[in-house]
Amino acid sequence: MKGMDRRDFLVGTGLLAVTPTAASAAQGTDWGAVRREFRLDPTLINLGLFYLASNPREVRSAVETFKRKLDANSHDLMPDQAQEVAVALGQYVGGAPDDIAFVPNTTIGLSIVYGGLRLRRDQELLLTDQDHAWHRQAAQLAADRVGAKVRIGTLYANSASVTEDEVASRLRNSITPQTRAVGITWVQSSTGVRMPVRACAQVVAEANKGRSPEDRCLLVVDGVHGLAAVDDDAARLGADVFVAGTHKWLFGPRGTGMVWVNPQVSNQIVPLLPSLSDRSETALLGPGGFHAFEQYYAVRAAVEFHQRLGRSRVAARITELATRFKDGLAEIPGVVIHTPRDPRMSAGMVCFDVPGQPGPEVVGRLKEKRIQITTAAYRIPYARIGTAILNTPAEIDRTLKEIRSL
Ligand SMILES: Cc1ncc(COP(=O)(O)O)c(C=O)c1O
Repeated sequence: MKGMDRRDFLVGTGLLAVTPTAASAAQGTDWGAVRREFRLDPTLINLGLFYLASNPREVRSAVETFKRKLDANSHDLMPDQAQEVAVALGQYVGGAPDDIAFVPNTTIGLSIVYGGLRLRRDQELLLTDQDHAWHRQAAQLAADRVGAKVRIGTLYANSASVTEDEVASRLRNSITPQTRAVGITWVQSSTGVRMPVRACAQVVAEANKGRSPEDRCLLVVDGVHGLAAVDDDAARLGADVFVAGTHKWLFGPRGTGMVWVNPQVSNQIVPLLPSLSDRSETALLGPGGFHAFEQYYAVRAAVEFHQRLGRSRVAARITELATRFKDGLAEIPGVVIHTPRDPRMSAGMVCFDVPGQPGPEVVGRLKEKRIQITTAAYRIPYARIGTAILNTPAEIDRTLKEIRSL
């Protein structure tokens, strides 16, 4: 953004209201203009946009451009574009491009990491009872192949009142000398809890004191609901591995994702599949064969879209809307909020219960009112919303009104 500051640029693209005062600069983004970059169904209040991304205009147009080039001559693959994507993602997560591999989604990323981890049968993978079923399955399949174990820990008693200290102390008590990896979720889609990754990393680091590389415990983070929802450098949270689809909160092309690996441990994870990329040791983890290259190359456009908006503005907007929803829910008699009210322990997901109505029923009743919410697909399917930057305070208020009338 040479010669132009970010605010000028946002104004130039119509994404920032033209005359924000200094005091309102934090709220100065024209979110209506941002929303118009997307092709959302205008008749629907969609509070499940995190599920699978809708793409903004510039991502759609990048896909189209690359598609046209490949249609003209599919021999002209563009390794320089792949490198640009790695550079953009690296900047966005605070890591080096060489420490990033491309994967089609979070699930395949996690499967490649656990599947490629040098794991012995006398070792175990420690996950939590709130990780996504596909995360757990990825670990289980990897463990089964070598006869190792997966152990499931519980890192807090009550999601709504969880604290960093509670998670850290429970984790400290759960790790054993056999624990080869701890798997956690940055923002849990079961409860909306944002896990204190740095505190967990510290516990893992203590446990690793004196361990040899082949016994070292790695911290693996499923970061899909934190990436582009939380204002933090994913590669600097202290985790050893960070995996996230870029097709959720980042609004990247569907079927794209990333794995970042701490270079100090990259020799502990071997490729599971042939790779197309020989950029680096970690890039080799990205599965090969030919891909929907136009989708991959266009991830950079999604990153740039977010960088122009600013990661902190995006996170602030998501939090503002989630807080508005939680505050409103708290005033509805009988409704139980399962997500922490504290924004430091939560992000853009809010899970709740309406008395006497199971989550799927709440989803169905709101659907009749043209409001799309989801349930958490876990043991207890709480009703759940996600507040994206494309949502508005008016949509939150209307949804609260309909929940009140249930
Ligand atoms: C916490 C979590 N991890 C992983 C996934 C799967 O993501 P992907 O579709 O990128 O594999 C989901 C699905 O939404 C999820 O909620």
